Amino acid sequence: MSTIESVLQENRVFPPSAAFAAQANVAGMAAYQALVAKAAADYEGFWAELARQHITWSKPFSQVLDESNAPFYKWFADGELNVSYNCLDRHLPARADKTALIFEADDGTVSKVTYQELYHRVCQFANGLKSLGVQKGDRVIIYMPMSVEAVVAMQACARIGAIHSVVFGGFSAKALHERIQDARAKVVVTADESLRGGKAVPLKAAVDEAMAMGDVDNVQKIVVYRRSGAAVPMQAGRDLWWHDLVKGQADSCEAVPMNAEDPLFILYTSGSTGKPKGVQHATGGYLLGAILSMQWVFDAKPDTDVYWCTADVGWITGHTYVAYGPLALGMTEVIFEGVPTYPSAARFWEMIARHKVTTFYTAPTAIRSLIKLGADLPRQHDLSSLRLLGTVGEPINPEAWMWYYEVVGQSRCPIVDTWWQTETGSNMISPLPGATPIKPGTCTLPLPGIMAEIVDETGHPVPQGSGGMLVIKRPFPSQLRTLWGDPERFKKTYFPEELGGKTYLAGDSSRRDEDGYFWIMGRIDDVLNVSGHRLGTMEIESALVANPMVAEAAVVGKPHEIKGEAVVAYVVLKRARPTGEEAKKIVAELRDWVGKEIGPIAKPDEIRFGDNLPKTRSGKIMRRLLRAIAKGEEITQDVSTLENPAILEQLKEAVA
Ligand code: WT7
Repeated sequence: MSTIESVLQENRVFPPSAAFAAQANVAGMAAYQALVAKAAADYEGFWAELARQHITWSKPFSQVLDESNAPFYKWFADGELNVSYNCLDRHLPARADKTALIFEADDGTVSKVTYQELYHRVCQFANGLKSLGVQKGDRVIIYMPMSVEAVVAMQACARIGAIHSVVFGGFSAKALHERIQDARAKVVVTADESLRGGKAVPLKAAVDEAMAMGDVDNVQKIVVYRRSGAAVPMQAGRDLWWHDLVKGQADSCEAVPMNAEDPLFILYTSGSTGKPKGVQHATGGYLLGAILSMQWVFDAKPDTDVYWCTADVGWITGHTYVAYGPLALGMTEVIFEGVPTYPSAARFWEMIARHKVTTFYTAPTAIRSLIKLGADLPRQHDLSSLRLLGTVGEPINPEAWMWYYEVVGQSRCPIVDTWWQTETGSNMISPLPGATPIKPGTCTLPLPGIMAEIVDETGHPVPQGSGGMLVIKRPFPSQLRTLWGDPERFKKTYFPEELGGKTYLAGDSSRRDEDGYFWIMGRIDDVLNVSGHRLGTMEIESALVANPMVAEAAVVGKPHEIKGEAVVAYVVLKRARPTGEEAKKIVAELRDWVGKEIGPIAKPDEIRFGDNLPKTRSGKIMRRLLRAIAKGEEITQDVSTLENPAILEQLKEAVA
């Protein structure tokens, strides 16, 4: 990949400025090394001390790490706590009047919510959920726009011990249906519509469609937040308005003491099979990871920071760095309903200036598209409040990094390139901004206590500079506990026997440079990273094959300037291979089809038709060839083992 080649040549180094280091939570490499050494010397003691220091426990723990049923690890297993208590109650009364959330709507309307108000709203909604019969351990699906209410719903679940599963509002009714079913949710919380970029996205209609797909008797109630005011049909006995539910509810509600190992939430993510995985996180360890990364990576200063993570709550980043982490620290944070390009490509810069944002966390894909739409726009806004920048989701190419550093951060703000995953719950490999000398394009070094390494297929460390599989050798508090309802898949996917069954396999390839810095190279499985979002190739293939016109499909990724990776689908139709206008028409139909099956983010960028797919004589699709063709590369490899080499010429033809 061209971006990887260019990062391999990167040798600029940006050490933290003296001014930043002087005020940092972890100041200087010696301080970082001391934490690393402490974790190495007494692993459990290290985590136990931090867990006691940063979390308010309703019942202190005496056990730290329990490895007796590896890889089903437990942390702080006899302790009790409540995440919502740690995010709200413990900041009262001292921070009661402090702004917790600054919400900016799509149309620019701003509203602020104090910690006291947020506490009341969470309590009222929690009481509302209880009145619907939601109890500890029940699952609640949250299919909501970016809103104060989405955070309230998540916090309310945490407060009463219900397990939320947030489904990104851009996912289709079909994807929603699958998740409602798999989680066996009792309640679905949604909105009439979400408003993004001046357009309304019907959410309640998608919920109705999902419910009509059947086999969802588990759902008893659907709570609808009125956002746009659009008329939506309400089914008597099943559907009720958010505002009616909370009316008259008490504004305090007990924060139920939860066992540290009780599930906090399930979040579905793509894997290498067609079926999304329900990543299950636990209460205590997850909260600890969120808090420590806020302290270490985001250098949180609750009294002076205005924190803004642009991720949607439908993704893990929006869980850890919107709904939980900032609130656990008692920070003020910005929540944004809209999109970076509306009403103009200056929206982010306007908002940073308007809200005096100090800490800004976004995705490389957003940065790249904003460069393209207006590289000079940041200079027209007062960005002097910024002190720290972050990126997440994919490697950032040095060109985009330099622009982010110089134009947005005015060469003053360190950039934390944070590597982590839905499964890890919180940042794993990242610079600590007051300590780590930063190089553009690398996520640098593991956080203290994170035993990341690069190994070969047999689990042996690779020589420095060589590529290999990224693993984490020791269990860490914020890691997923299992896959909802599928412990076997959890073991096989993340703790494979070939690596001894106890080492966490991340699914990424990486290499380390002479300073030990990690350079992420890409996925080792059939997972694509499109605009920082994970998509399984099999998932898209199953969606395509579900179309009555399609006989067979293979999906690969190809490098894309803005999105990182683009989706290319090779399709064999049941009818003859289409050309010209007919081909164009079918491409449009199939793209829409995938949008409906999964969601607009999964729509193939390109579809190519063939009479067949390139297969070996044993019938295996040669994906390597398909990737080369998608990139427009000359095919140099021997294709004589192919059953049908002539097919390659057809597949080189993209539909115009
Ligand atoms: C995959 C995880 C973690 C929240 C966003 C995505 C890729 C993530 C980086 C980074 C290079 C990165 C990896 C990882 N990734 N951050 N800083 N540099 N690659 O979460 O959907 O669970 O995807 O995103 O490939 O495995 P996710």
